[in-house]
Amino acid sequence: MKPALKPANPNFSSGPCAKRPGYSLGALRTDVLGRSHRSALGKSRLALSISETRRILGIPEGWRVGIVPASDTGAFEMAMWSLLGERPVDIFTWESFGEGWATDIVKQLKLADARLFNAPYGELPDLRQSNPDHDIVFTWNGTTSGVRVPDADWISDSRSGLTLCDATSAVFAMDIPWSKIDVCTFSWQKALGGEAAHGMLVLSPRAVARLESYKPPWPLPKIFRMTKGGKLLDEIFEGATINTPSMLANEDYLDALAWADAIGGLPALIQRSRANLALFEDFVATRSWIRFLATDPSTRSSTSVCLSLDLSAEQVKKLVKLLETEGVALDCGSYKDAPAGLRFWCGATVQPEDIRAMLPWLEWAYHQVKG
Ligand SMILES: Cc1ncc(COP(=O)(O)O)c(C=O)c1O
Repeated sequence: MKPALKPANPNFSSGPCAKRPGYSLGALRTDVLGRSHRSALGKSRLALSISETRRILGIPEGWRVGIVPASDTGAFEMAMWSLLGERPVDIFTWESFGEGWATDIVKQLKLADARLFNAPYGELPDLRQSNPDHDIVFTWNGTTSGVRVPDADWISDSRSGLTLCDATSAVFAMDIPWSKIDVCTFSWQKALGGEAAHGMLVLSPRAVARLESYKPPWPLPKIFRMTKGGKLLDEIFEGATINTPSMLANEDYLDALAWADAIGGLPALIQRSRANLALFEDFVATRSWIRFLATDPSTRSSTSVCLSLDLSAEQVKKLVKLLETEGVALDCGSYKDAPAGLRFWCGATVQPEDIRAMLPWLEWAYHQVKG
């Protein structure tokens, strides 16, 4: 039977992700637009994004938080290009984005002293292989496989290397133990449903010490440079961005942060994401034709929920199209490099009632396609 009820919001894309419930462009402040980002007003709004990010995520005193160019990719690339090469690096990859970082380290930076630990889609590599005296590069949540690290217990408290963590689809939805993370990056377009444009870069005191003591042997373009004369450019972490940011995107991010705060901050965001995952877990548990791509339940992502079906790639495409045509789930096909399947964003901005309304459609569409 074709379901009657449709989700109020069918946006399940894994980036840009659904806007917060009740979002309205009209709610954004506009007096800051058309003005210099270096005006007192402009700087204060950028600085507020930084301080609210710090407060809501519980980032410790002493850790720097900066707004940098080019989204999560920009933030992670500038960290890798600025910090790596001082010592050997252990790279853990299990899906497309992690593999991209590995490629850059091996083929662009050409670091000879790199150890690669790779796992196929659905699995995690053996994280305990990491050497605490090496730098460690990993992704907290593999957005394209729906596999996350279950915790950071495998990272030594007495490490001498740095940990570089791409946490773009994890922050604001999963707990990040900051003492284990020296570099953390994320973008605005993910977990709070912000606008793409800028990246956030979080640096531990040890990462700053590396920046101030180590000069990589390769040239660094201006948009990657975080130091001058061997000293950290503090202003980047106070709202004076390297180049011109989108003040509209910043206002949009501030709106998302205010919503996050109003609903109860990080614990509420995490709870909402977990509850969304639980709706899929209940659905999958009673159906033999659909399963999580993540093989181990403790590694299941609560944000990018990736599912495999007993359908051919062609049939999956048809199913995705059918859900879109019915207007019940948009952009829910798996990532282009991932195995054929479905991916539903389940971060905190997604409403559980929309998932509840969508799931019967998924069942209906499956049977339509399966014939
Ligand atoms: C894990 C991960 N890393 C990096 C990126 C790239 O992010 P951006 O497009 O914001 O640079 C994404 C985007 O989906 C991602 O999921």
